[in-house]
Amino acid sequence: KRPLIIDCDPGIDDFVAILLANSCGQFDIRAITTLGGNVLPQYTARNAKNIAAMIGLDCPIGRGAQKPLMHEIDTADYIHGVDGIGGVELPESDRPFDERPAWDIIYDEACKFPGQLEVAAIGPLTNIAILFRKYPEVVRLIKKLHIMGGSTTTGNHSPYGEFNIWEDVLAADIVFNSGVELRMVGLDCTRQGQCDKQVWHQGLQKPGLVISKLREMMAFDPTQTELYRQHRGIKPPKDVENYVPGLPDAVTMAGMIDEDLLQCQKYYVMVETTGPLTYGWTMVDWNMTTRKPFNCEVALKVDTDRITELYRQMFDFYEGK
Ligand code: BDR
Ligand code: CA
Repeated sequence: KRPLIIDCDPGIDDFVAILLANSCGQFDIRAITTLGGNVLPQYTARNAKNIAAMIGLDCPIGRGAQKPLMHEIDTADYIHGVDGIGGVELPESDRPFDERPAWDIIYDEACKFPGQLEVAAIGPLTNIAILFRKYPEVVRLIKKLHIMGGSTTTGNHSPYGEFNIWEDVLAADIVFNSGVELRMVGLDCTRQGQCDKQVWHQGLQKPGLVISKLREMMAFDPTQTELYRQHRGIKPPKDVENYVPGLPDAVTMAGMIDEDLLQCQKYYVMVETTGPLTYGWTMVDWNMTTRKPFNCEVALKVDTDRITELYRQMFDFYEGK
């Protein structure tokens, strides 16, 4: 099986990414590491621990950065709810955390599996940047780092800033310039990655605790909360019956599971760390004007039949569990 670490900030779509990774049968999930991002770090860590216990995933759960490298944390709780999972109560796990910091856990696993360890970074990149600064040689030990982050078009947290990059631009800059084998799955690409509507809604009706918790999370409508109104103003409620979510972290994981699911192309990508208007932008050098060597593989297109198939398998796997 392929050794994998999931570095995340669960997070509703992080939850679905973990469900996919666990159900596909391809991975030896060595650890889940967390950080502050979508919500405060104490919630992301607790969510990761509870999710793992609920799905029977027995791996170390480690905690990492409390906040971005250079400034205070600015969460996306107006999307995920203050607790990160839309107020859905998961059974509380009593398993202890792994006391090593996230970056030490990732490093230890990279040393155990040189050239084989894959890392899915589906939150801000702070843990990964600290890892690369503390252990520079690790960039050659990691087989590939798949990030959900950035966008080749518009953002979600600011006009050009996608949340994971925007949240810690310095960390992102370190990662994009690290020389690690990198895949960027940006927001624009993940927006194409929706499951077929019928498969999604039939799947959500299946019995079992895990799917019932997913169903509850999918019914959470952040746009109707006061928190959201303060950030973004008023929006009509979502039509839960017909709604198929775009789940950026899940699309990133799906692309790892099925190599033909994402169409990717190599480019040189820069992170905007200062621009007053474009702060947090991942700028792709489409025309190779900088003449810099490509630093990342940019995901451009999603095969929706393939992602639907993975979701179908996921629902089958958790049925009754
Ligand atoms: C990313 O930001 C978070 O809100 C999601 O979990 C995802 O990782 C999307 O911009
Ligand atoms: Ca995330």
